[in-house]
Amino acid sequence: MATTVNSPGPVFPRTADIPGSVRIDYCEAGARYLIEGQVRTWTGPCQEVLSPICVAGAGRLTQYKLGHYPLMTEAESLQAIEAARKAYGKGCGDWPTMSVADRIRHVEAFMPRMQAVRDEVVKLIMWEIGKSLPDAAKEFDRTLEYIADTIVALKDLDRTSSRFVLEQGFVAQVRRSPLGVVLCMGPYNYPLNETFTTLIPALIMGNAVIFKPPKYGVLLHAPLLQAFAESFPPGVVNTVYGDGPVVVGPLMTSGRIDVLAFIGSAKVASILKHQHPRPNRLRCVLGLEAKNAAVVLPDADLDLAVKECLLGATSYNGQRCTAIKIIFLHRSLADDFCARFCDALGKLRVGMPWEEGVAITPLPEEGKPKWLADLVGEAIKGGARVINTAGGTIDHTVYYPAVVYPARPDMRICQVEQFGPVTPIVPYDDEQEVIDWLADSPFGQQVSLFGADPQQLSEIIDSAVNQVCRVNLNSQCQRGPDKFPFTGRKDSAEGTLSVSDALRVFSIRSLVAAKATEYNEQIVSKIVIGRHSRFLSTDFIF
Ligand code: G3H
Repeated sequence: MATTVNSPGPVFPRTADIPGSVRIDYCEAGARYLIEGQVRTWTGPCQEVLSPICVAGAGRLTQYKLGHYPLMTEAESLQAIEAARKAYGKGCGDWPTMSVADRIRHVEAFMPRMQAVRDEVVKLIMWEIGKSLPDAAKEFDRTLEYIADTIVALKDLDRTSSRFVLEQGFVAQVRRSPLGVVLCMGPYNYPLNETFTTLIPALIMGNAVIFKPPKYGVLLHAPLLQAFAESFPPGVVNTVYGDGPVVVGPLMTSGRIDVLAFIGSAKVASILKHQHPRPNRLRCVLGLEAKNAAVVLPDADLDLAVKECLLGATSYNGQRCTAIKIIFLHRSLADDFCARFCDALGKLRVGMPWEEGVAITPLPEEGKPKWLADLVGEAIKGGARVINTAGGTIDHTVYYPAVVYPARPDMRICQVEQFGPVTPIVPYDDEQEVIDWLADSPFGQQVSLFGADPQQLSEIIDSAVNQVCRVNLNSQCQRGPDKFPFTGRKDSAEGTLSVSDALRVFSIRSLVAAKATEYNEQIVSKIVIGRHSRFLSTDFIF
């Protein structure tokens, strides 16, 4: 019988039970890193990588040993920054001065090389962070699609910039230029996708990049290092691994990072920003914490609201920055909604990421089940209850989703980002309570509204759009489609990402302008006709 949220049972396999197609070998390649175009093997101290998946053996369950990665020191970080600065060449290097069409060709050369290691990367995503096999595959495919869309968007942008403008007696050409060296740091929940949605636009705009994988989700980058080395000039892409303070601190304090693309906690983002000696020169693109609320209005379609809230709160165990992390429920619906929500939740399958239809899987963060249990424990002390069967059961790295009701906004569970399968439900009487909560929240990413009354919805929409950056109607919160802007207010984000916005974020407008005299026009014409410049050019990319 399958293990579900309602009926906990043994979930972890013996090695012999793991299907051959999803078994994984110890990843020796994890000890490699990329600097100055070379994939080097690290012989220094390493960090062992344990999967969140436990395997039964010798009478006990242990986290499966997946591989190891380098614990680099300040010296290697400084080598990486040196390599990146050399490739950027103060803006005069081959890469930043290369034509857009040629840079696109490099990225196009990378894509089939990336595709070639799909199975390896997908398997590593699954084993390293416990993401289900279909979701791990989706993360990979969505990333490749994002790269393809980025190329299309850049061609569009370049076509618009390939013409001259005449304005108030000036002739000018305006294009976007790179910014310098970009440090990209993605999160563990989308270790590939959210690293690449900054890394690829940063690269294609002509910047040199250093990337540091998150604490969990490191090995999956190993199969891609050779693809980077073969597709880009030396020093354009470099990797660093290890403890953040040891390897990232020196990068920031060197003052030689021009753009920080970081997805993680506001606390770490703030430390990194302040480490830069000239913060005025540092451009930041940050994706930080969120506490997205679902608001269930009195006339909501309950089937739809339950379905979307459940998906929003539990997909990938609630470990999405866009997850629904608190539900405001109109008191008149409390019994009905809670019963239906718990019923649907109870049927979710708990198990290993490769099992068909699995929804709840092991958590990668060390000590996370206990941390969640403490959070729920505090809420219980404050008068709430876990209202679903077996909610909060812990089995090693698995935490059975807990629904906490009635939660109050002053509880810690309603204030911090739980980033896990715990759903506090707050009953409310008047919509103003929710609007006030949104306005006072330190976070401002998204909200989901469930209801049908146009007047009531409009009132909330009109205040909510000034508190968050996306209002979802009768739908869960989410980032996609990737062409939509993805951002947040307050402590939730800095800068906007989407396929086209990211190209802007990692570049700056630069122009060549001249008084439109015959003398200047002749010179500009000669430059263009003689194809002397890669910037001043009317070349049209097809
Ligand atoms: O973790 C944050 C992700 O950007 C969320 O993306 O809504 O597509 O899962 P998603």
